[in-house]
Amino acid sequence: MKVECSMLTKIVRINEKQPETEKIAEAAAIIRDGGLVAFPTETVYGLGADALLAEGSKRIYAAKGRPSDNPLIVHIAEFGALERIAAEIPPQAKALADVFWPGPLTMIFNKSEAVPRETTGGLDTVAVRMPSHPVALELIRESGGYIAAPSANTSGRPSPTTAQHVYTDLNGRIPMILDDGAVGIGIESTIIDLSGISKREDGSWISDEIPMILRPGYITREMLTEVIGSVCDDPGFASVDANVRPKAPGMKYRHYAPKAEMTIVRGDSQRVAEYMNDRVQENREKGLKTGLICTVETENLCRADVIKCIGSRADGDSVARHLYAILREFDDLGVDRIYSESFDDVRIGRAIMNRLMKAAGQRVVNV
Ligand code: TXA
Ligand code: MG
Repeated sequence: MKVECSMLTKIVRINEKQPETEKIAEAAAIIRDGGLVAFPTETVYGLGADALLAEGSKRIYAAKGRPSDNPLIVHIAEFGALERIAAEIPPQAKALADVFWPGPLTMIFNKSEAVPRETTGGLDTVAVRMPSHPVALELIRESGGYIAAPSANTSGRPSPTTAQHVYTDLNGRIPMILDDGAVGIGIESTIIDLSGISKREDGSWISDEIPMILRPGYITREMLTEVIGSVCDDPGFASVDANVRPKAPGMKYRHYAPKAEMTIVRGDSQRVAEYMNDRVQENREKGLKTGLICTVETENLCRADVIKCIGSRADGDSVARHLYAILREFDDLGVDRIYSESFDDVRIGRAIMNRLMKAAGQRVVNV
């Protein structure tokens, strides 16, 4: 498909608490016509199109430069909307929705005929999420109920957490960005696969597989387990072995990546800071500019050309919220090397480490 690169991209500031009706109406008209609108969600900004129109989804792939085998998430505003797009809705989905929707959880179902393969990257399954952001919910309702939306970055760049990030990547390629400033969570939704649960002829449900987390996010494995019992992680998303394929096609790409070479440094705080400071000196002698990602707790131990404090170790949510913006800032500052502290691989830390490891192309040093 031809990429329209010359259109004017309008940034429209919108009120989160009471989205202005005329602004939503204008955005919804674009989507109903098969066009694209970027909009805020609580996780990251999304690039929306009508999920049930093949033409709309095709435009998303073209604007992002996204590989066409990487499926999109369909966003809905009411649980009842699932019936049209999911072939079956297992009881686990209802139980999870009761607790986590609207919110940062995406569930995968076997798809119905209503969902075009252009939206699902050719798969027989469909990913669905009900976001909690009021602007997203209003836009979905006014656009016909089904918005396909990947993160609104160009393929391979960090996900956008502000309207400005979206503009930097997609200016000239989309007509409109709804702007509600910085998002609340900052990393993409947790994805859980429920497509292995199906209905028997007698009406009972059978699980061929334990529900699997395909992408870690704000909703942790522990939180999911509390609601539906046993849940496992896809070995593919955490593996450093390129032969272990993740089940979510998008997780295989080196993604969230800053331009500079990035390394994660693991170990005791003091030693991590010393190691990073030494690298800064060494790189300086080679004429290379180095950026460090540190935390409130370690900021005063670090010496570098550029130091970014990502948040507090005591508050994982603050780390998640700043991660992508910091990777983009390093790009803007022309840094050649990045070193980042490491985080405990539990709760929200799992999602943080997943994104950091991908940004670093899995490069880790233990000190
Ligand atoms: O928080 C989010 O989920 C954001 C906001 C905008 O809602 N969206 C988002 O979309 O992160 P995207 O396209 O950047 O990531 C979607 C991920 C990809 O890794 C894709 O491969 C996976 O979901 N995915 C989508 N449909 C799938 C399916 N049917 N089976 C397996 N993986 C799927
Ligand atoms: Mg993405």
